[in-house]
Amino acid sequence: MRNPVKILTRFPKRVLDLDWRLLLLILFSLTLVAYVSLSSSSSSPTTLLVSVSNLIPFKSLIRARPIQPKLHPLNRSRIAVCLVGGARRFELTGPSILERILRVYEKSDLFLHSPLDSNSYKLMLLSDSPRIASVKIFKPKRIPETPQELRVLTAHTSPNGIQGLLQYFNLVEGCLTMIKEYQEEHSFTYDWIIRTRVDGYWAGPLGPENFIRGKYLVPAGSQYGGLNDRFGLGDYNTSVVALSRLSLIPKLDSAKLTKLNSEAAFKAQLTTQNVDFVAKALPFCIVTDRCYKFPPSGFGVPVAAMSSPGPLSGAKCRPCKPVCTGPCVGPVMNRLYRGWSWMEWRNNTINLCDAHREWEEGWQGLFDKVAGTRLAGARKKVATLSMDRCVQGIKKLRKQSAHWYGPTAQEICRLGLESGR
Ligand SMILES: *[C@@H]1O[C@H](CO)[C@@H](O)[C@H](O)[C@H]1NC(C)=O
Ligand SMILES: *[C@@H]1O[C@H](CO)[C@@H](O)[C@H](O)[C@H]1NC(C)=O
Ligand SMILES: *[C@@H]1O[C@H](CO)[C@@H](O)[C@H](O)[C@H]1NC(C)=O
Repeated sequence: MRNPVKILTRFPKRVLDLDWRLLLLILFSLTLVAYVSLSSSSSSPTTLLVSVSNLIPFKSLIRARPIQPKLHPLNRSRIAVCLVGGARRFELTGPSILERILRVYEKSDLFLHSPLDSNSYKLMLLSDSPRIASVKIFKPKRIPETPQELRVLTAHTSPNGIQGLLQYFNLVEGCLTMIKEYQEEHSFTYDWIIRTRVDGYWAGPLGPENFIRGKYLVPAGSQYGGLNDRFGLGDYNTSVVALSRLSLIPKLDSAKLTKLNSEAAFKAQLTTQNVDFVAKALPFCIVTDRCYKFPPSGFGVPVAAMSSPGPLSGAKCRPCKPVCTGPCVGPVMNRLYRGWSWMEWRNNTINLCDAHREWEEGWQGLFDKVAGTRLAGARKKVATLSMDRCVQGIKKLRKQSAHWYGPTAQEICRLGLESGR
């Protein structure tokens, strides 16, 4: 009589599944025993009664109706996910984007805008996306530079000069154009637009708290003299302003703004158009192959280990054995200019790599440990991909997309698999 619950759980599960009446009978007799011992008042029978009724939900035994989870409003909202950029390390980032962005909200449509190169075949991983509205894989062309753009922008911090900035702006705004075309065709407007990058690794899901009406959400830190532009999320109207990166340059010019880098131009775009913004910590980082001096200082760039606890809010990262953790991190981060590459590091969110050389030997194992077996599967799959499987994969992606603008599957795969990886 010491432990009636134990007696219950010792019944083989199958018996319980087979006959609920048996369970009810046992419960009834237990209650009876408890009741009897209550009237004879030996030990402490009331607690026995209470504990049995707490453990067995009587109501659910009587009415075994399945519990309907209430649909989160965001699961009813129409969301466009704009994914832009080159696919360089997409075998590492792709599965995380699928799992933690594309599969989180039910009515989200993917728009992919990506330049064609020898890594484009890796985009085949997106063929598992739940809803693909439009894919555009284009051959990059030189964009003419207007006098306005030459005045407003600076080549100073862009590795490929003003042309590099214009290519990037075109990538972002081109995605908005794709979204507008799709809306017109189907006569509706998206409630939200999520703008994210092909080279972003998502360590956790994009949570509902990041959808804020009337404000444009950007990642905290890594401001580079303006606003972190490695991710953005807003309702339709604020997103139109945030994504119009080329077409708003004349407005910046008439506001007499000059020599802006990408982040400063982005901030000016929002402020001149009276769009409020809010910066939040977000669980992603930008996977980069570039090398950076270590330890960074001043205008230097810190590179986080992908294994950092995070959130990394869009900091640059790579798979590495960190060389600087715990008490080492603060002094390094405090030597960086606050409004530039600096990011929040307290609470031990970040571990630093020495990224002055190429990725270290054994990075694959380090990555797999971070991503887990399931997400790391894509890395292995892509590393041993045959031409046939590649063509099949790209064809599947094309078939899943409502709209496809791009070369043939054969062309994309040959570019990747025949140029000696
Ligand atoms: C939206 O629905 C999916 C499954 O359909 C569910 O996993 C997810 O938790 C829901 N999102 C929210 C914010 O409730
Ligand atoms: C969005 O912009 C349109 C046109 O500029 C306007 O009619 C509409 O009221 C705006 N919506 C919201 C929610 O502000
Ligand atoms: C550190 O973590 C605590 C508890 O989660 C939180 O309240 C605090 O704001 C964090 N501090 C910083 C600087 O992020």
